Amino acid sequence: MLFNPITLLPFLLLLTPTSSNPIPVPDGLILEARAGATCGSVTYTATQTNAASQKAYALYQAGTTLGSGAYPHTYNNYEGFTFAVDGPYQEFPILSSGAIYSGESPGADRVVINTSGKQAGTITHTGASGNNFLQCT
Ligand SMILES: *[C@@H]1O[C@H](CO)[C@@H](O)[C@H](O)[C@H]1NC(C)=O
Repeated sequence: MLFNPITLLPFLLLLTPTSSNPIPVPDGLILEARAGATCGSVTYTATQTNAASQKAYALYQAGTTLGSGAYPHTYNNYEGFTFAVDGPYQEFPILSSGAIYSGESPGADRVVINTSGKQAGTITHTGASGNNFLQCT
């Protein structure tokens, strides 16, 4: 009876880790599975664009920003791109290192989500003039 599961239960409950994620993903977040993207010579998998978009939406929902560029922030689409979903839009860095953006230099590439948390697309400064963007392919 030493390992009776009933007598062990209180200890198992004590050992059950609680969430250590500082930014919970909101229940309402529904991200559509999308193909990856190629921005200049950098290719992102759908898993990577999803992860960046989820982080962007979690921060947006929390009213929090990261980095000196205050990401995520409004993307006005002055370029007039056609996206998969309607705006208003938010842009957030997606890093070629594969890391999730946490406030460092944002690099050239961004995911775009709408304010309902839907993925709109991926854009890049690579190959664009000045501060303009091009759509990733
Ligand atoms: C975001 O996109 C979804 C899917 O197209 C749409 O239903 C929703 O209304 C959009 N949100 C906003 C704030 O436009």
